[in-house]
Amino acid sequence: MCGIVGYIGARDATPIIYNGLKRLEYRGYDSAGIAVLQNGQIEVRREAGKLSGLADLLQKSPISGSLGIGHTRWATHGAPSARNAHPHTGRSGRVVVVQNGIVENFLELREELSSEGVEFKSDTDTETIVHLVEHYLATGIGLEDAARKTFQHIQGANVVVLMSADEPDKIVAARIGNAGGVAIGYGEGEMFAASDVPAILEHTRRVTFLESRQMAVITSGGARIESLDGAPVSAEIHTVAYDPIAAEKGEYRHFMQKEIHEQVRALTDTLAGRVDFERGKIRIPELNLTPELAQRIKKIYITACGTAAYAGMVGKYLIEKIARVPVEVEIGSEFRYRDPIIDGDTVVMAISQSGETADTLAAMEEGRRKGAILWSIVNAIGSQAMRIADGYISMQTGPEIGVASTKAFTAPLIDQYMLAILLADMRGTLDDSTRRALVSDLRLIPDLAGRTLAREADVEKAAHALKDIRGCLYLGRGINMPIAYEGALKLKEISYIHAEGYPAGEMKHGPIALIDEEMPVLCLAPKDPWHEKMISQIQQAKARGGTVIALATDGDEIIRSMADHVLWIPETPWMLSPVVTVLPLQLLAYHIAAIRGLDVDQPRNLAKSVTVE
Ligand code: AGP
Repeated sequence: MCGIVGYIGARDATPIIYNGLKRLEYRGYDSAGIAVLQNGQIEVRREAGKLSGLADLLQKSPISGSLGIGHTRWATHGAPSARNAHPHTGRSGRVVVVQNGIVENFLELREELSSEGVEFKSDTDTETIVHLVEHYLATGIGLEDAARKTFQHIQGANVVVLMSADEPDKIVAARIGNAGGVAIGYGEGEMFAASDVPAILEHTRRVTFLESRQMAVITSGGARIESLDGAPVSAEIHTVAYDPIAAEKGEYRHFMQKEIHEQVRALTDTLAGRVDFERGKIRIPELNLTPELAQRIKKIYITACGTAAYAGMVGKYLIEKIARVPVEVEIGSEFRYRDPIIDGDTVVMAISQSGETADTLAAMEEGRRKGAILWSIVNAIGSQAMRIADGYISMQTGPEIGVASTKAFTAPLIDQYMLAILLADMRGTLDDSTRRALVSDLRLIPDLAGRTLAREADVEKAAHALKDIRGCLYLGRGINMPIAYEGALKLKEISYIHAEGYPAGEMKHGPIALIDEEMPVLCLAPKDPWHEKMISQIQQAKARGGTVIALATDGDEIIRSMADHVLWIPETPWMLSPVVTVLPLQLLAYHIAAIRGLDVDQPRNLAKSVTVE
């Protein structure tokens, strides 16, 4: 997710765009840039790092003009750097583009354009867009038509805003798929385009929004909106309430709630560009995995902390089940103290949203010291855990602001599922039909997640019933045992209620003594290979007077008859079930904390990235 701002009017665009980007910095902050039309030329200033770096650059080398576009980046393709920062110009320097999203067919486009003599100046997918616009302009058509042909040619989910020095009376904006929105702001003799309304609310509250596969030609006097095939669209102009901070959260009370609901999009994004559903194949080029290496790997250590470690515990099930490679999950803060057995055929794979967690980085260093192959699954592009790895998988979820990790937990579950299939495919241990079936199941995920999150009101009701509990046991088995740990951690870290995740099968070896009327038990009992076992677990808890909250699959009448509360999920392939079973637990923890009036996004004593050991 990136932040985009465009301006056309009578005022200086630079400060308007810069301040707008500041309000969007939560959407991405690894590099930024602004382009304006100054004395008939397009002037661009770009800088790696946070927006403050761009401010310093603009101080040293100012630009001004009444037409401009700007961008703050959350890198997906191409590490954060000035050369990969947006805006991007083409060969002529007369056209400039910014994008939010991923051009899925950028590799083919780069080949096509390179064969026409284009020399790419960056590693980004976005640069293909500006060269494509110039390709169509060269046929003698105008900017609007060249842009429309370009939008029809690129594939993926994209928001694109562009302008040209040769047609300085307009900005062109388009939305293709769900790569975030495009808000068009109506001022007096001036107009705005932005990926989110906070960027422009100080200038206007009259806003219209592009729908998917729509484009807008924006002049200082207004906007003409049409579908990509040229049909005119009459878009309603809304008047937006003015509360910049609230607006950054959209219609949500907290970033955590917003990010819980963003998971449908984040899961779609983490799949983007990696799944060939036709051939039932996975590709993760940035992992640098070859068949030779895949066949050589003898063991994988997954190392991480907190929520990320629980994601790794699910990954262990997936990689061992699908790829038959031994996996051990190691807490980052312990790994380097136990003199682990590592050789050149061992992989040490870190999972880290921030990519900067000190304990996890130290574990990676231990792996490096002992000659391991280093991989990482990270969200922050350009972070240390990405830079020092031999290969990586980016979660591609967009920035996660809430301290309690949600989308950066579910995305790596999918990433490890894809990794397991890729590994097995390269090791030749997966027959074609099984592989195709596993790949095909990925198609179900965004819809299953969306349908589960749509049941938030039911979870909120359960939260009201449980808001005063003083403790809770979370029990799970098999692939959903780590979800018991993760669900308990969510409750602990934002509601400050003690909760303990436990392997359900272990309860009879002692902890069952804890269960009474005062100790509620949350049992994860979806239709998976351990379902029967969880039913007897619920019976054991009920027999001791425990209140049971069960997580169950739609239509499970046995569970309905036994449990005091049921959190329902749709039927889900069991190997992908953790992605879905965790969602009601995220919502349950969120609503209990919100009902208790706690600081959900910045809980006491915690930090988003623990960069100390
Ligand atoms: C999870 O909600 C916590 N914020 C915490 O456990 C976090 O997952 C852990 O500190 C690891 O952070 P990382 O993913 O950035 O490495």
